[in-house]
Amino acid sequence: MCGIVGHVGPLTPSTASSAPGSGRSLEVLLDGLSRLEYRGYDSAGVALVRPDGVERLTTVKAAGKLDNLRAALDAAAPAPATAGIGHTRWATHGGPTTENAHPHRAGSLAVVHNGIIENFRSLRAEVEAAGRTLLSATDTEVVAHLLDLDFTDRLAAAGEAGTVDPDAAAALLVESMRAVTARLEGTFALLAVTELAPGAIVAARRSSPLVIGLGEGENFLGSDVAAFVAFTTHAAEVDDDQVLLLTADSVTVWDAAGDVVTPRQWEVSWDASAAVKGGYDTFMDKEIHDEPTAVAETLLGRVDDRGELVLDEMRIDPAVLRSIDKIIVVACGTAAYAGHVAKYAIEHWCRIPVEIELAHEFRYRDPIVSEKTLTVAISQSGETMDTIQAVRHAREQGSRALAIVNTYGSTIAREADAVLYTHAGPEVAVASTKAFLAQITACYLLGLYLAQLRGNKWPDEVADYLENLGKMPAKLERLLAEQEDSIRELGAQLADQTSFLFLGRHVGYPVALEGALKLKEVAYVHAEGFAAGELKHGPIALVEDGLPVFVIVPTPRRPVLHDKVISNIQEVRARGARTIVIAEEGDEAVTPFADTVIRIPATPTLMWPLLTVVPLQIFASALAKAKGLDVDQPRNLAKSVTVE
Ligand code: F6R
Repeated sequence: MCGIVGHVGPLTPSTASSAPGSGRSLEVLLDGLSRLEYRGYDSAGVALVRPDGVERLTTVKAAGKLDNLRAALDAAAPAPATAGIGHTRWATHGGPTTENAHPHRAGSLAVVHNGIIENFRSLRAEVEAAGRTLLSATDTEVVAHLLDLDFTDRLAAAGEAGTVDPDAAAALLVESMRAVTARLEGTFALLAVTELAPGAIVAARRSSPLVIGLGEGENFLGSDVAAFVAFTTHAAEVDDDQVLLLTADSVTVWDAAGDVVTPRQWEVSWDASAAVKGGYDTFMDKEIHDEPTAVAETLLGRVDDRGELVLDEMRIDPAVLRSIDKIIVVACGTAAYAGHVAKYAIEHWCRIPVEIELAHEFRYRDPIVSEKTLTVAISQSGETMDTIQAVRHAREQGSRALAIVNTYGSTIAREADAVLYTHAGPEVAVASTKAFLAQITACYLLGLYLAQLRGNKWPDEVADYLENLGKMPAKLERLLAEQEDSIRELGAQLADQTSFLFLGRHVGYPVALEGALKLKEVAYVHAEGFAAGELKHGPIALVEDGLPVFVIVPTPRRPVLHDKVISNIQEVRARGARTIVIAEEGDEAVTPFADTVIRIPATPTLMWPLLTVVPLQIFASALAKAKGLDVDQPRNLAKSVTVE
């Protein structure tokens, strides 16, 4: 995640009465950062450039929320600037400290970055070999030095090192940006300023968001239009592998071949207050739309130069991992359902028994844990007290703990022996959506990692599964584009219903549980999830005329599972249920028994939950909205449950 903002304009004082004398650039950066704070808030910083003075490039940064940066700026009182770049951070490489906050400086320039540079380890060795000392643990500082090394060479070759013409310096920085970004693997939106070109910002992007804001005598850049919508509504797109030069009155964009291109422009229709939610009504809706990115980012950078899977922090000896004879997943709520999905995949791939334990239950019974047990703690926040206590309890008994968490440097991440981060970005809505998909993705990575390490799967088999996972973001995009509107209509139509059932089999079972939980928590409706096979053992007594029943149908390519679930649909329909069936595209066997069918792109069985849960999330949000409820902050709940 992370949010970035850039501004270039004339040397004018701020128009904001709250920031007299600090200049227009700083006013724009602070406003943009406050609107982008939802993208990350563990540190923030700005770099400002002015055309004269002794120190023409000033950077100010601070760990913690934006208010800490404001306080640091009050103390530093930087002079008005002609260009500025700002950043609000969601830590990926390196903890949430002031040293790791952006911008990062190298020589005459400063850089902000959103994304993950996968080959940063080898590049870091290269810049250190060139005599550079790095002050942070970030991938971004490596890029700043690479850029400065290249820029310095070009200045020397052009004979410009002494008295530099700002326009020539800006043109050389564009060349450097093109040369350096061609060497980067991973994702990035990068903005750079140099004191040698005080009226310019040079930028580039690949797979991380970046948009241009076109003003009158000033121009803007942002991770999304929220960054500048308070100042201009004229926006322009940036495509992958394009390099940009912004001045106060010009925007030049080059494509990967080095040809100048005209970016597509549009008029932003949001008002500034909607912008933090990316134009969606609620954070929950925005976060559902973040899901393709959350899965893609969680998969990013996981394969090393030898083609082997790597985790983020591993302090467990591989010999210990080879010897484990049991995995216990400890988690709560949605995170526990992600663990439940993982059980099917890990047992199938690694032939290790996996138990799922609600963290609060695990802690207070007498679980059988030994040095051969791997405890896997799954948590979005990394601060859920029940899960923290479960990790401590397991470790006290000799188990190693591996954390799957979304929040860098959180308690669970710090206390565990190994960490696999889900790169879902900050989740603001109380009801978890994108974190669930990222947790399932990370669990699959863990399963494949163990299968690779223990020799349960051949490298080509692991590569096959990874390829299938790599296709999930595009399938999620398609699902959202094709199904969202009709699911929302259904949510509005069923807003008066007081009870719902959700049925699933195999990996569809935890999806059914999660569908029921979403509806309970955001729409305050009674909802139950059941294993479809359990129906006849009691719950079918609940079925009466008109009761809406969601059924998650496995792919027809698994006829044993599929045909059983079709029978379950018939059983509830025969008793008057209104059936809402989630089925694979082309599965016509469901049609005669479904009142509504929601179609999902074909996917291998184990990965089915990544798609089938999405309609249930959308449905819960739509139904809650139709009832006029506060979708993002449901009653009685908190985002992070830090008490037992
Ligand atoms: C449901 C939800 C909760 C959390 C649970 C664990 O939408 O958000 O059930 O999943 O409280 O929270 P974390 O993952 O932060 O440990």
